[in-house]
Amino acid sequence: MKLITTIKDMQTEISKQKGLGKSIGFVPTMGFLHEGHLTLLSHARKENDIVVISIFVNPLQFGPSEDFSTYPRDFDRDSALAEAEGADYLFYPSVEEMYPHEPSVKVVVQERTDVLCGKSRPGHFDGVATVITKLFHIMMPTRAYFGKKDAQQVAVIDGLITDFHFPIQLAAVDIVREPDGLAKSSRNVNLLPEERQQATVLFKSLQMAKKAVDKGERSPARLSNLVSEVISNDSNGQIDYVEVLSYPQLKPLEKLAGTIIIALAVKFSKVRLIDNFIIHID
Ligand code: PAJ
Repeated sequence: MKLITTIKDMQTEISKQKGLGKSIGFVPTMGFLHEGHLTLLSHARKENDIVVISIFVNPLQFGPSEDFSTYPRDFDRDSALAEAEGADYLFYPSVEEMYPHEPSVKVVVQERTDVLCGKSRPGHFDGVATVITKLFHIMMPTRAYFGKKDAQQVAVIDGLITDFHFPIQLAAVDIVREPDGLAKSSRNVNLLPEERQQATVLFKSLQMAKKAVDKGERSPARLSNLVSEVISNDSNGQIDYVEVLSYPQLKPLEKLAGTIIIALAVKFSKVRLIDNFIIHID
């Protein structure tokens, strides 16, 4: 695996590989890699000639009171894991390399941001879309891999690819979970021990919602109340949101039908966790 830290060197390598007719699978991350990231990498490895992973904690997508400075980082461990998973290139730029000056152009996401994380993290998806636009231009990938853990991010990137005519195939990969159901996340290490135990309630609440749907529940409001109640009863986490929407449109629903998402965000003392189930209803 080759470590690359400058945009120029990355572009040189990409042109070389493209010149050889190689397909490129790209996995953008903010590092502190876990099995979720590694699953994206293994999909990319199977489906492309060349695999590129980027590690960049993107300041543009963090709000002023968010966890940019405490976001976990461990470059040496990440580098070993990426290499073991078969990455060909690790792109690891500094903030100065990616943003040498205040950006003169930023990407603004117009749709699907008035709900879920878009609502509670204003500007977050503009930061994501801006950095992903830059990374797509640098990597010119054949396929780009994103996790459904960040289901709204997948929907936003889908819109970005369509609207900006990126000739890139979007691959959305299922959520990877701990044995007790907690969705894997780099942020889980910042949970206090008792919060780590309580955090299993997120998955449990979604499972109960799924059961209710299977039994015939069709009211979005009753479903989100059920999820909220389960979370409040079993944890000290503060609910940021519980929403039931159409997916991938992310529109409110009168009645549950078609493909829907039950999504939630819960704040613990130092970490805010998200999770979701996407369910198909006939
Ligand atoms: P990060 O949180 O590091 O996640 C990188 C990718 O891994 C995302 O596509 C995310 O959805 C996926 N992922 C994380 N946890 C997962 C899990 N448990 N199962 C499956 N996939 C999982 O998302 C970002 O970084 C950033 O916003 C980024 C896209 C890199 C832009 O800065």
